[in-house]
Amino acid sequence: MENVAVIGGGQMGSQIAALSAMSGHKTSIYDNNKDYLNEKLVFTKNNIENLVSKKILDQKKYDSYIKNLEVCETLEDAVKNKTFVIEAVVERFEIKKEIFEKISNLLDENVVLATNSSFIAASEIARTCKHPERFLNMHFFYPPLRMDLIEISFPESTKEEVVNRTKDISKLMGRTVVTLKKETPGFIVNRMLGALIDEAYELYDEGIADFKEIDLAIKKGLNHPLGPFELTDYSGLDISYYSKLKIYNETKNPKDKPKKFLEEKVKDGKLGVKTGEGFYSYDKSSKS
Ligand SMILES: NC(=O)c1ccc[n+]([C@@H]2O[C@H](COP(=O)([O-])OP(=O)(O)OC[C@H]3O[C@@H](n4cnc5c(N)ncnc54)[C@H](O)[C@@H]3O)[C@@H](O)[C@H]2O)c1
Repeated sequence: MENVAVIGGGQMGSQIAALSAMSGHKTSIYDNNKDYLNEKLVFTKNNIENLVSKKILDQKKYDSYIKNLEVCETLEDAVKNKTFVIEAVVERFEIKKEIFEKISNLLDENVVLATNSSFIAASEIARTCKHPERFLNMHFFYPPLRMDLIEISFPESTKEEVVNRTKDISKLMGRTVVTLKKETPGFIVNRMLGALIDEAYELYDEGIADFKEIDLAIKKGLNHPLGPFELTDYSGLDISYYSKLKIYNETKNPKDKPKKFLEEKVKDGKLGVKTGEGFYSYDKSSKS
């Protein structure tokens, strides 16, 4: 068993911490925005209670969640005596880098340092940190309580033991693991999904169809449960924007430039379900 710290308790971190605690690991969680963390923890707890009442989850899992989860006031407290850290803060390189530089100096070299980032490679973050050979990407899917897959990716320098421990904890969380041979932004699923979303945004930008019509076409024509605009509203438009911007800053290819309409939504704080408005509007009770 690992002692787990989850850093960042937003949409992803709150549920990753829940999965960890329910799989029997002592788990701490820290976020620098207490109100947002509390909102996400309440939502997660309600979600778990709902799954228990529907008999999808065992009551023992709920009891473990309550027993094993500790909310911490500082980053230092959260990582103290931990063996496995999962970072799930906002998708901003500078913020992740600062956190990992700090904790890699505090923690023993055997502590696994995993990032849940969708597009930033572990090797990029590890470059300026102590003991880079313990870093890897451990990529969950939204919502982590329900989505089965975890993608694991790492540079050649990552120790085999670190990879094996990550596979072990993922399996204890009841998740299916897919391991990549090389690092690539977006891993497998988001690279493929990115192509679909890019084309949907392009169609909308060219004025060929309204976003609702594009979503409808994909749901009815390809049998997808959500259309691309609904999907990015759920995952967060800031994530779509910043990941695209990062790629554009590297390639300078105009095709990679985030669309103006996306940039405007992010600047206006319309980030999707989590803020109550994205492409669609959501009432408070549907927030996740
Ligand atoms: N949303 C998805 O579908 C999805 C899927 C897989 C991976 N991810 C990745 O998970 C990470 C988090 O995404 P999210 O959707 O949970 O975003 P979110 O905006 O819901 O949560 C991010 C959290 O980070 C916290 N935070 C910011 N700076 C911090 C700091 N210095 N210290 C501690 N906490 C800090 C914020 O307060 C917020 O609670 C990102 O790296 C993203 O790429 C997201």
